[in-house]
Amino acid sequence: MSSRKEAIIIPSNCLDALFRTRDAKELVVSLDRILVTGGLGFIGSNFIRHVLEERDDCTIVNLDSISFGAVRQNLSDLERLPKYRFVKGDTTDAKVVDKLMRDTDIAVHFAAETHVDRSISNPEIFLRSNVEGTFRLLEAARRNKITKFVHISTDEVYGSAPGHGSFSETDRLRSSSPYSASKAAADMFVEAYHRTYALASVTMRCTNNFGPYQFPEKFIPKTIISALVGKRIPIYGSGTQIRDWIYVKDFCNAIDMAIDRGRLGAIYNVSSGNELANLEVARLVLECLEKPLDLIHFVEDRPAHDLRYSLDSRRIRNELGWKPHHDFRNALKETVAWYVDNKAWWQPIISDKILSPTPWKEKW
Ligand SMILES: NC(=O)c1ccc[n+]([C@@H]2O[C@H](COP(=O)([O-])OP(=O)(O)OC[C@H]3O[C@@H](n4cnc5c(N)ncnc54)[C@H](O)[C@@H]3O)[C@@H](O)[C@H]2O)c1
Repeated sequence: MSSRKEAIIIPSNCLDALFRTRDAKELVVSLDRILVTGGLGFIGSNFIRHVLEERDDCTIVNLDSISFGAVRQNLSDLERLPKYRFVKGDTTDAKVVDKLMRDTDIAVHFAAETHVDRSISNPEIFLRSNVEGTFRLLEAARRNKITKFVHISTDEVYGSAPGHGSFSETDRLRSSSPYSASKAAADMFVEAYHRTYALASVTMRCTNNFGPYQFPEKFIPKTIISALVGKRIPIYGSGTQIRDWIYVKDFCNAIDMAIDRGRLGAIYNVSSGNELANLEVARLVLECLEKPLDLIHFVEDRPAHDLRYSLDSRRIRNELGWKPHHDFRNALKETVAWYVDNKAWWQPIISDKILSPTPWKEKW
């Protein structure tokens, strides 16, 4: 690890309690300084909580522009902690990014515009945030020679999978949506910076996440919330599109492992093997809520909608020993219960537009 870590000085009276020694005057402890981008969003906020619960060897700075997906209250209870600092700012702002990167050992880059439907209606902000934002971070990371750059990417960069088999990390990228194209471009930049400048990068390509704090525009929370507010549940096309679901805590654990042991320059697919058709997921959610299935309403399909996502995650399982710990059905039940119990979280951020049956036709 880097020698540029933050030093905290523990006074001798605390040391006494910690180590039961009367001789030491002070102890200097080195902490890894982690810069998280997009930490007010769904996965980023779960990841920051995970790190602060699981690790006592780091501090976290969270850079987030409070765009779509961000909810300030997601981490407001952490703002009193000395180990956590929130900075409102944009990854495309070279000055802000360079300043933060000077005091960074490890960057974990989540920040992105993330909704496929919005990317169809307004692709330009996806280009800016996801490609230019990543580029600015990479530039600052190489100038400041940080120890590790963990880039968070998605299964969508491979495009639609055929009926059988799963994509491996060496498969070609074949984006269907502007969102996916912007993520694939960012992945290419990360790979190029590793090869050209020896940037210490690791890329994580993960399947669809679900869990608490996911913004209501996404499929599972939208299904739960629509049912709770008495709206019909829109299913695109015939609902046969297959996604491989992973509970967000399992992905956070994979990222944590990649920080410590991820091979430099490596790409890791992350998947749990829960391949389910969208219609089946909507049915399971309604079952958990004890709501009638006739709330399901078939609507026009989204343009270029990928039929199946499927990843081969043997590399991360073999190299890092990662595996998922959460059973899909139990985690789905917990997630549904979280949205039922946390109406105060989602009620202020929903609107007819966010819950629109065809969001790609809306103006964003
Ligand atoms: N959600 C999934 O199922 C999934 C699956 C695989 C990969 N990913 C990837 O994981 C990452 C996080 O996804 P998520 O679902 O938590 O997204 P999210 O939409 O919930 O959160 C994204 C966060 O990034 C912030 N942000 C966006 N543009 C920014 C910018 N230019 N500068 C600073 N902050 C900015 C937003 O304000 C928000 O807080 C993304 O890179 C996404 O591509 C998500």
